[in-house]
Amino acid sequence: MEYAKLGNSDIEVSRFGIGTLGFGDKIDQRDADTILGKALDKGINLIDTADSYGGGESESALGRVLQGRRDRVVISTKFWNDEQHDRAYIQAAVEASLRRLQTDYIDIYQPHHPSSKVPVEEILETLDALVRQGKIRSYGLSNHWAWQVARVHAICEENGWHKPIALECCYNLLNRSIENEIVPLVKWLNMGLLVYGALHRGLLRGQYNEPGNEEHRPEAWYYLRETRQQRLKHLTPERLGLVERLQDIGHSYIPGGNSRTLAFHWLLSKPYVSSIILGGSKAHQFLGIFKHIVDGAPSPEAVIVADYSTRERRYQPYENQFVTDML
Ligand SMILES: NC(=O)c1ccc[n+]([C@@H]2O[C@H](COP(=O)([O-])OP(=O)(O)OC[C@H]3O[C@@H](n4cnc5c(N)ncnc54)[C@H](OP(=O)(O)O)[C@@H]3O)[C@@H](O)[C@H]2O)c1
Repeated sequence: MEYAKLGNSDIEVSRFGIGTLGFGDKIDQRDADTILGKALDKGINLIDTADSYGGGESESALGRVLQGRRDRVVISTKFWNDEQHDRAYIQAAVEASLRRLQTDYIDIYQPHHPSSKVPVEEILETLDALVRQGKIRSYGLSNHWAWQVARVHAICEENGWHKPIALECCYNLLNRSIENEIVPLVKWLNMGLLVYGALHRGLLRGQYNEPGNEEHRPEAWYYLRETRQQRLKHLTPERLGLVERLQDIGHSYIPGGNSRTLAFHWLLSKPYVSSIILGGSKAHQFLGIFKHIVDGAPSPEAVIVADYSTRERRYQPYENQFVTDML
């Protein structure tokens, strides 16, 4: 397992991390324990969670399975940042996360999204104070636009506050827009990059290309809060055709490969990606990735062909989670 240092901090994260959106919900305690055990055996140390996952259940489940293993992991958690969420909210949110996680410090704490109402100075001053108090070791930013990240840095610089060490955002073969502004920016600012959505919520596994599957797997789009009709509009022939092309590339260039393997090989080939946060709603999905992907080196041919085939996916608006036209 390779590790990447985040910014100027002393925090090192494994190139793969565990996403816990389904922990305490679709993934029960026993499976969470199995996934964590196997992940640690593979050298994975980054665990990504949020206070909003399962209304706190994800953090609680993690708190239970991390007993006796806390010092082996880097916990990244987030607070749901929105208009009401000012200094008092963040101070209460961090205490609640610490309690659920059964720990006395968080390694990386992040606003889940930029706030539309709370001044960014108030958020940054609060995060800086939390670092000084030792409740968090560092903080990052999640789903921020490039100009917002640059502004955060400038404000921290001006005030002598701790700076964010990483940015977390969506990045995959179908959504490459971060390559335009975010990637050059994080390199320039020496920030880590944590990416989610490697499989574009399962789309890159090719499951929607199986006849009739778009009818019975629409729950994968649940977080977009769209109606079924709205969700199905994303599954256009052009998009499904591209996934089919990626399936062919995976089959042709990676022994035993497919579009899912290709999606990970491609991300792993990007040196600016500090860690790929793995997702899954079932234990076997994580275990399958551990077995077939985590130890593999990216296939250079597969990466070049996939890069070329998806080059136009760079040219779309940068999205955060709230922008519904995900594809
Ligand atoms: N910062 C943020 O705003 C943010 C946003 C989203 C996620 N995240 C983090 O990133 C993690 C991963 O995100 P993601 O869930 O969107 O990742 P993803 O890799 O794009 O999607 C994973 C989903 O794909 C489906 N899938 C189908 N076949 C699979 C297979 N063989 N192996 C694995 N997954 C398969 C599963 O859903 P079904 O079983 O339902 O089909 C699974 O939950 C989350 O757990 C969370 O920690 C962060």
